[in-house]
Order: sequence, then C-alpha cells, then structure tokens
Amino acid sequence: MSVIAVVGGQWGDEGKGKVIDMLAEQADAVVRFSGGDNAGHTVINPQGEFKLHLIPSGVFYPHCTCIIGNGVVVNPDIFIKERDELCARGVDTSRVYISDRAHLVLPYHILLDGLEERARGVKSLGTTLRGIGPAFVDKVARMGIRAVDLLDTAILRDRLEYVLEYKNQLLTKLYGEPPLNFDELFEICMGYANQLRGNIKETSSLLDDYIRQGKRVIMEGAQGALLDTDFGTYPYVTSSSPLVAGGCLGAGVGPAKLDRALGIFKAYCSRVGSGPMPTELCDDIGEQIRIRGHEYGTTTGRPRRVGWFDGVAARFSSRINGLTGVAITRLDILDTVEALKICVGYRLNGDIIYDFPADAATLHQCQPVYEEMPGWCQPTTEATCLEELPQAARAYIARLEELVECPANYVCIGPVRRQAIELAPIL
Ligand code: GDP
Ligand code: IMO
Ligand code: MG
Repeated sequence: MSVIAVVGGQWGDEGKGKVIDMLAEQADAVVRFSGGDNAGHTVINPQGEFKLHLIPSGVFYPHCTCIIGNGVVVNPDIFIKERDELCARGVDTSRVYISDRAHLVLPYHILLDGLEERARGVKSLGTTLRGIGPAFVDKVARMGIRAVDLLDTAILRDRLEYVLEYKNQLLTKLYGEPPLNFDELFEICMGYANQLRGNIKETSSLLDDYIRQGKRVIMEGAQGALLDTDFGTYPYVTSSSPLVAGGCLGAGVGPAKLDRALGIFKAYCSRVGSGPMPTELCDDIGEQIRIRGHEYGTTTGRPRRVGWFDGVAARFSSRINGLTGVAITRLDILDTVEALKICVGYRLNGDIIYDFPADAATLHQCQPVYEEMPGWCQPTTEATCLEELPQAARAYIARLEELVECPANYVCIGPVRRQAIELAPIL
C-alpha cells in the first residue's frame, strides 16, 4: 500500500497526531491537507511531548518528508515558531515544505474572525479565533495571498494593496475599527518571505514522484468529518474539508492513487466549540471522563464537551469518507466506567431515525437511543495485543466495528507512541 489517508471521524481531537506519529515510521512522506493552525495534534514519543498546529506529525523521523499541502491555510508566524521550536528541541525540520499554492493567514483574518464571532453574539460558532474561516473565505473569493506571492515582491505589493484596501473598508465601515497600515503589513510579509523562502515549493509534483516510485505517503487530516463544511453540523463547522476527498484536493493527489482510508475515532465523543452533540454528557460521568481524559483543547485550552460514542454519526462519517478501516483511540479513558452506552439511533418526533440529519436544528432535537454494554473496570494501558484486553473491552470494540461498518486496524490505549495494538496493518 503506498498512499493512505488518515482522517478524523468525529469532531476533531480523536488522536490523529498520535496515530500518524506511529504510522509515519513506515512512511516516506506525510502531507497535511486541510485546515490551518486551528488544528492541534499531540505527539508523545521518545523525543518528548509536542503539540503541532501546522507541521505534519511525521516530522520526528529523519526519513520522512513533511508537506503542508495547498489545502492548508498557513499563518507564517505560527509556522516559523513551530519550525524553530522543533529545531531548538533537536528535531530535523530540513524536509518540511509548504505548497506554493497554500493560502496565508494574515493579521486581518485574525481580526475579522474575532469581529465576526462577536457579531454573531449568542449564535457564535466558538471558532478557534485563528483567522481560519476568513482565510478560506478569501481563497474562494479570489482575494487570498498565497505562499507563492511571497516570492515576488512586485506581485505581493500589487495583490496586498488591493486586498488591504477592501479589508480596511470592512474593518472601518462595518465594524468601526481602525484600518491596518499598508507599509507595516507589507514589511511583515517581506519578513515572512525571508523566513519561508527555503520551505516554499511545488509539492504536488514532489508527491507524484514519490507515488511513482512506490514510496509510502500518508495524507494527514485535521479536524474531523462532523466539522466538514458540506457534511458536518452546518453552520457549526470549520471552513475546509477534513474528509478523505478533501485529502486528494488539498494535497494535489488524484483520488485513484489512494489505496486506503483510515478514520480515527475516540472510544467516546468529544467536541470543542458550539453546535449540536446528541450524546453529550452534562453529568458526573461526563465530568469523570473529562478529568480522566484531560479533555481540554490542544489549541485553545477550552474544556471539551464529552459524550457517549455516537454510532449514527460514526456510520455517517465512515460512509462519506469511504473508510476502509478505523483506529479506536482512548479506550483506556473508559477503563473506570462501570456501564457504557453507545448511541445506535436518534429519537425524533416520535420516530427513530438512523441517518445523520443535514441540519443542526434538527440534530439538536434528536434524543439518542442507547444500547448498554458492561464496562471492564480494569487497566488496559499495558496491553500489547487484542487477547490481553478484557473480554468486555473486546466486545465494545467489536460493536464499534459493526457500527462504523469496517474493521479496526488499531486500538490505542494511551498517549505514548508504543501504547497501541495493531489488529491489521494499514501500510
Ligand atoms: P488530534 O487533534 O486528533 O491529533 O488529537 P489531540 O492531540 O488534539 O487530542 C488527543 C489527545 O489524546 C492528546 O492529548 C493525545 O496525546 C491523547 N491520546 C491519543 N491517543 C490516546 C489514547 O489512546 N489514550 C490516551 N489516554 N490518550 C490518547
Ligand atoms: P484537530 O485537527 C477540534 C472547531 C472549533 C469550532 C469550529 C470552527 O486538532 O482535530 P475554526 O477555528 O475552524 O473556524 O472553528 O471547529 N475546530 C476543532 N475542534 N479539533 C480541531 O482540530 C479543530 N479545528 C477546528 O472548535 O467549533
Ligand atoms: Mg487536536
């Protein structure tokens, strides 16, 4: 198998960073394909603990080329900080490239993210305030500044003049804020150009070369399917596609080149930000899971909402992604829960439905229909194979496999690289 996509199956933070750090040992390249620094991917390996926002989780292997694809929006400040911090901790970042087609997140995007959230009032989306939505808006509005623009001063000046004029109208006339100064912004961008010149590259041809040579490529997703702009809980979604299909577009790899698609699912659910979450637990069990699982956002530090595994949402996610397998993470967080629940349908207006509704207001009205399963109430963190897991944990995994309609390739039982059980290799 040479090309695989690894994507979030739920609302993000499923443990993509951990799984990709583990799989990248056998990969020649890892390419991030969507989102921006709204992502926070945690990796704990023999080199330490790292929280990556833009740089792919394969960076810890000297043999692995890391690409930030055209589908990612890149805040140069965050990239430079992340690259330099990794370097300072002894991680080789000389093989980290940014697609020349990637759009940039600039200071006005961050300002507008905050102003738009404020304007939404009680209907705010709970964004990460990283300017991600406004940057993707500019991309489709054909107003974006791309990495390639940094390489030509005249083009950069010309584009930035036009774009900033428009942004300043928005800032001053719609929001009553002071305008941004062109010369200062241009100076900042010239600084980015100096810092990033060595990283910017045409990356889709690089990936094509790798694929032609039969090398192994991992497409690294950010966020999760239920935050997808088209299929997520709209409008409580992010502004790019975390799906496998988004991977092909955001990396510049034709869909027929893809061999497998691995969805990452927590053994329960979590969500940061606003929007419906039918299985949310607002009781003691929820608090117990949040505390035991340290469920606080990697990027924003906000407490994550937690809930039981949602089989309806998971089956939907598996289908729209076309998953060939899943990795179930954080099984160990359920080690102390005596009785587990899994949502297998939604009760809506007296009926039971099994499909994930298109609209957030309808999803909000859905009451989960639960199936109960016994907990295992013993530690799983040292297990090295399926047989070493308690019978109740194996039964739980088997039920999740039925619900997502594909096999589990991996089960993770701790945050550290080695804490994973391989049931069937994906690479
Ligand atoms: P990502 O955004 O999908 O990469 O996930 P995050 O890094 O934001 O959040 C996942 C958290 O779970 C991180 O703190 C990981 O270190 C941790 N983690 C991943 N897999 C496991 C697991 O199997 N068990 C436990 N206890 N923690 C895990
Ligand atoms: P990783 O890759 C969890 C959520 C935000 C908010 C919504 C829109 O670590 O799984 P945005 O800033 O994207 O406009 O916010 O999306 N969100 C995430 N939640 N994990 C993420 O990334 C997320 N990236 C965005 O909390 O609800
Ligand atoms: Mg995360």
